Amino acid sequence: MNPVKQEGRTATEEAVRMSRETLTITDNRTGKTCEIPIKDGTIRAMDLRQIKKDAKDFGMMSYDPSFNNTALCHSKITYIDGDAGILRYRGYPIEELAEKSTYLETAYLILYGELPNAKQLEHWSYDITHHTFIHESIKKFLDGFHYDAHPMGMMISTIAALSTFYPEAKDIFNEESRRKQTYRLIGKMPTLAAFAYRHTLGMPFAYPDNELSYTGNFLNMLFKTTELKYRPNPTLERALDILFILHADHEQNCSANAMRCVGSSHVDPFSATAAATAALYGPLHGGANEEVLRMLMEIRSVGRVPEFIKKVKAGEGKLMGFGHRIYKNYDPRARIIKHIADQVFEIMGKNPLLEIALECERIALEDDYFVTRRLYPNVDFYTGLIYQSMGFPMTMFPVLFAIPRTSGWIAQWEEMLLDPEQKIARPRQVYLGADQRAYVPMELRK
Ligand code: CMC
Repeated sequence: MNPVKQEGRTATEEAVRMSRETLTITDNRTGKTCEIPIKDGTIRAMDLRQIKKDAKDFGMMSYDPSFNNTALCHSKITYIDGDAGILRYRGYPIEELAEKSTYLETAYLILYGELPNAKQLEHWSYDITHHTFIHESIKKFLDGFHYDAHPMGMMISTIAALSTFYPEAKDIFNEESRRKQTYRLIGKMPTLAAFAYRHTLGMPFAYPDNELSYTGNFLNMLFKTTELKYRPNPTLERALDILFILHADHEQNCSANAMRCVGSSHVDPFSATAAATAALYGPLHGGANEEVLRMLMEIRSVGRVPEFIKKVKAGEGKLMGFGHRIYKNYDPRARIIKHIADQVFEIMGKNPLLEIALECERIALEDDYFVTRRLYPNVDFYTGLIYQSMGFPMTMFPVLFAIPRTSGWIAQWEEMLLDPEQKIARPRQVYLGADQRAYVPMELRK
């Protein structure tokens, strides 16, 4: 039996239409139909413009506050399947990278698409290590901050300030220049972070030690006191390195989006990274790890967890470190982090807040409110506990996120710059404000 003939098409025409990768839209206001191509499971928002009420009409747009269902770019860097809890950098599962790679290897992979061979890794590590020093004048900026200034505020300002020391960074379409700024950004982030930390303690700055690993040197700049040579604890050094791997990129999150958006104006990468760092500072993004600790301290004891969860369910605050825009399953990074926590606690002693965190997780994973909304622990739920046990103050937690995320930001920025389809980011709006009206003189205003 022939299928029913639709809208004047023959059955064959209909079959051809059905086999095509297209979307047919009928505008019920005008009765007109248009066919829009589907590619990679998406339609182009610009294709909607042809849908018009009449010739004067601007054309249809899609309305998508906070980009819930809008792909901003084509990307080859990071793959996430939020339902299945999968995260891969350039095709490699995060679990394998965390087990077998170092942060610097991972950063290379994220930036250049392939794992480095031994020679490439040697050069890469050398180049990063030889760009760790910062201009002495940066210390003067740091001196200007109050002793209790938040290190993220200091980071944002000093990263932006780097652009004034390297004006050639404006040459963003020069590959050599981009590579140099990449070394500088990845190399100097730990130094800026450590100097900001030492400023808050009123301690003299500890300079980079080229003989140490990326994370080993960072620990040296943070914690070195009177010893002639700082030797990081290898377990803590590796734990931090794995945490850096887990934080290196996460596709189009708020800060990556800030990096791309600000970078799309063709500003230098230091200014764009300062913007991305500012985006990361927020409690809904990289600031969440700090908020988790504050929350656990406020809960105070395991016995008070049910009462706290009740308040969250009543809309009085959030269970920080839970939920994710993309993951509707256990965040794969959170699983790895739980293992690292055990190793760190073995050396540093168990964090007394751990029991409260575990109880929050246990109750939440069984509670209808969290189950129906598919809210699971995210990367930030356990990192704060580890960082605290390692001796970091809470205000440093988002900084520990920003350092490794720099490689992801640069990769996202470069991908955006080299994509011929990308232009300056400039969303549309649906204007719902007043129509033109007569100006009201002061004496007539209410
Ligand atoms: N505690 C309690 N309720 C929550 C939570 C939470 N942590 N997260 C989401 N919900 C509720 C939310 O109120 C909403 O409920 P309803 O449907 O009744 O209005 C529902 O779950 C959906 O949440 P949403 O706010 O629409 O989800 P989103 O995709 O806009 O937000 C999020 C994602 C991460 C901002 C959010 O889950 C959140 O605020 N979590 C706490 C902060 C946090 O841990 N952030 C770190 C994210 S992972 C690392 C990173 O990206 O930086």
